[in-house]
Amino acid sequence: MNILLTGGAGYIGSHIAYALKQAGHVPVTLDDLSHGHLWAVRFGPFVEGDIGDEQCIRAVCNEYKPKALIHCAALIEAAESVKQPERYENNNFHKATKLFETARSCGVSHVVMSSTAAVYGEPRHDRPLRETELLNPLNPYGVSKLAAEQALFALCTSEMNALALRYFNAAGAAEPVLEIGEAHIPESHLVPRIILAGLGKLEALEICGTDYPTPDGTAIRDYVHVMDLAGAHIAALNYLMAGRDSGVCNLGTNKGFSVLEVVAAVAKCMGCNVPVWHGQRRAGDSPRLVADYSRAAEWLGWQPKYGLKEIVTSAVSWHKSKRYQGLF
Ligand SMILES: NC(=O)c1ccc[n+]([C@@H]2O[C@H](COP(=O)([O-])OP(=O)(O)OC[C@H]3O[C@@H](n4cnc5c(N)ncnc54)[C@H](O)[C@@H]3O)[C@@H](O)[C@H]2O)c1
Repeated sequence: MNILLTGGAGYIGSHIAYALKQAGHVPVTLDDLSHGHLWAVRFGPFVEGDIGDEQCIRAVCNEYKPKALIHCAALIEAAESVKQPERYENNNFHKATKLFETARSCGVSHVVMSSTAAVYGEPRHDRPLRETELLNPLNPYGVSKLAAEQALFALCTSEMNALALRYFNAAGAAEPVLEIGEAHIPESHLVPRIILAGLGKLEALEICGTDYPTPDGTAIRDYVHVMDLAGAHIAALNYLMAGRDSGVCNLGTNKGFSVLEVVAAVAKCMGCNVPVWHGQRRAGDSPRLVADYSRAAEWLGWQPKYGLKEIVTSAVSWHKSKRYQGLF
């Protein structure tokens, strides 16, 4: 089946393209290359275009007749969204809504949307979060993704069903031989930044906030392997194609690690010291976000196969690979 995959030149989208190809589908990547990379599109056709461009979406749908859409394209920097809220609202909400409307009118029957743990904001307890938790995003990025989820569900009728998958912190890489991995520019994500500091490509890693109400004072996140996330999209497509109800599912591991714990795991894997300095909290950051993924287990039959060790090992291999080293 042809699947329209927006943001397929990006980090998570390119791994989803790989999983789609392995599952016998054809991923048709649509990306404006604002943050993605042409070299990451390796598993199906590519169309350069904007998700908000109705004519472009119609042309792609006419040519490839996709029955399903996986929507990963978005601006993803929470801290940047605090400074540029309109840009995030426009790209992640208005353009996404246009995409959903156009896709539906072109006969797309199933939509899987990349959503985020940022929709939960600052939880009032330390337990892993269920989908029924209070939704209170702390930054415009989280607001824009929550608004897109709601716009999507408003469009679901008997002709279209949808799942919004709320990823916690994506990290890791497919085997380096695939030559895809995390390469955000600029890179703001913790695991790659620690590796870059370990490789001497960053002078030192800034630890953003050491006064959070957590055991070691640094923020706690749930790190989920990018190939586990990719696999969840195949399960989500099967779920939707079976005619099941629309809804949201958390994708995480039920386990949280503090920034200092992740630094220690990467340093151990690399066999080196990672230089760090203690900075301020970033605006819009939550102290602790950990997923309860029991709904994904129940609805999709999904559970993570990999833990922090595999995430770190695969990410270190990717950052040491010729492909990554040749990029910068
Ligand atoms: N990386 C994470 O840890 C994480 C966590 C939670 C949710 N998410 C969500 O997962 C999705 C993918 O994240 P990622 O880390 O792969 O980001 P990424 O920046 O690597 O990929 C996003 C892709 O979308 C493209 N894009 C952006 N706006 C576009 C537009 N208007 N038209 C066409 N293409 C456009 C970019 O060029 C890029 O290739 C996003 O929706 C993000 O909100 C990511």
